[in-house]
Amino acid sequence: MNVLHVCANPKPTEESVSKQLAAAFFGKLIELKPEVELVNVDLYDEKPPYYSYELFKRAWYPVFDEGYEPSKVEQMAMNYAAKQAELFNAADVLVLTTPMWNFALPAIMKAWIDQILCPGLTFSISKEEGVKPLHKVKSIVLLVASGGIYKEGDERDALSRQVRAAFGFVGIDDIEVVWAEGQNPLFFDNHEEKKALAIEAAAEIAEDIAELETDEAVAG
Ligand SMILES: Cc1cc2nc3c(=O)[nH]c(=O)nc-3n(C[C@H](O)[C@H](O)[C@H](O)COP(=O)(O)O)c2cc1C
Repeated sequence: MNVLHVCANPKPTEESVSKQLAAAFFGKLIELKPEVELVNVDLYDEKPPYYSYELFKRAWYPVFDEGYEPSKVEQMAMNYAAKQAELFNAADVLVLTTPMWNFALPAIMKAWIDQILCPGLTFSISKEEGVKPLHKVKSIVLLVASGGIYKEGDERDALSRQVRAAFGFVGIDDIEVVWAEGQNPLFFDNHEEKKALAIEAAAEIAEDIAELETDEAVAG
């Protein structure tokens, strides 16, 4: 099983609740399935570029004009996206570790999503066939921490809605969310208790993921 872990948090683990969820998740997953092939992408170590006009042309002009020949600059503008898409396409499971910032994903995670969800890399798109995945990701695990509390369907939560919509577009509907909510100690005396519950939930989701049937498990 190939797992791609993308982390958008500049803090060290001891100060980051979402990274502590990731530690619990991967601790359990690797205990249960030591053969997991894990690839870590720390977005603060290697920052994704913002989407550019050159990347737009390289990615989208050929969708509308099969004969379009991208320039060298346009070709190069796709380097990061192509490298990351390769990691994404090879994964069975994608784990996103992220804080909630201003009710949404940190910009660095949004930038990564903008890069990889690119026609010709992770999906194909045509009038006849619509959107077709070029990846094999079966499940996404979203590990998130927030200062406040957001009930399911809360309109202020742009984060989980965006993840569901963006990856649903490329055919991934199985999205497990582990949410350490109420982490602002000014307003929630029981923030440690809430964190402990979320850490437990992260380990439980790891148990489910360890059970996931992947192509090599089916073939073998
Ligand atoms: C720039 C910034 C914006 C934030 N915006 C929100 C927010 O919109 N809603 C919320 O509930 N918490 C917000 N918080 C609080 C964080 O979500 C909270 O501290 C959480 O624990 C961060 O995850 P981490 O501990 O993994 O870093 C914000 C924190 C920062 C630094």
